[in-house]
Amino acid sequence: MPYFEKRQRQTLEQIAEVKRILGATEHAMGSKIPTSLLVTSASPGEGKSLFAAVLATAAANSGKFRVAAIDLNWHRPALHQFFDLELNHSSTELLAGDLSTLMCSSGQDALDILTAPADYSDLNTPAFPVAKRLVEQAAAAYDLVIIDSAAVFPTNRMMMDPVMLSGIADGVVMLVLTAVTPKQQVRKAQKIMETAGATILGVIANQLRMSADS
Ligand SMILES: Nc1ncnc2c1ncn2[C@@H]1O[C@H](COP(=O)(O)OP(=O)(O)O)[C@@H](O)[C@H]1O
Ligand SMILES: [Mg+2]
Repeated sequence: MPYFEKRQRQTLEQIAEVKRILGATEHAMGSKIPTSLLVTSASPGEGKSLFAAVLATAAANSGKFRVAAIDLNWHRPALHQFFDLELNHSSTELLAGDLSTLMCSSGQDALDILTAPADYSDLNTPAFPVAKRLVEQAAAAYDLVIIDSAAVFPTNRMMMDPVMLSGIADGVVMLVLTAVTPKQQVRKAQKIMETAGATILGVIANQLRMSADS
């Protein structure tokens, strides 16, 4: 997997931590299967897409799950980059297509990826029902569905609302860039999602330090 090879040392450390998170998530979900997990955060750039990619990889490597990682941040797609994939389907294909024809191989047997559509801005149909159908189809076909989504703030009419998505996922994991995102904003995002029916399984502290060479 090229992305992970490039950043091997850093990523190995992350994967060790992510395995612990995966264990805690399994524990939190109990025996409830299928499981869909939404990865979100209060603000953009907190590490959602990276975490979704690493969690999906760790879950597939565990040998316990067939995993689907789904990019529902159609306004700012990113998940495909971690697996060296292109945005190779259109909105029309996404609307009409069956999930099995849309999933791409990650290069790892137990992990498939659904990338965002290449032309999201041209989608004239409300996106949420499409996303809901895709998550339902993925939950029926895979053991674990990991959803990469947009940030809760700032709201943007172009984005797929993670608050609505939080209500359809079995659990929500929130990334927080420590020492960057104000606690109040994190609490506000949590509260909004809980009101929408989300089960927040945990908050992940991303201690990425912004340095001149990063
Ligand atoms: N813990 C980390 N270690 C190294 N790089 C990180 C870490 N967290 C995030 N990044 C990098 O920071 C950038 C933003 O992360 P990303 O996952 O795209 O954020 P989001 O999806 O929340 O907008 C990416 O380039 C990502 O690779
Ligand atoms: Mg992202």
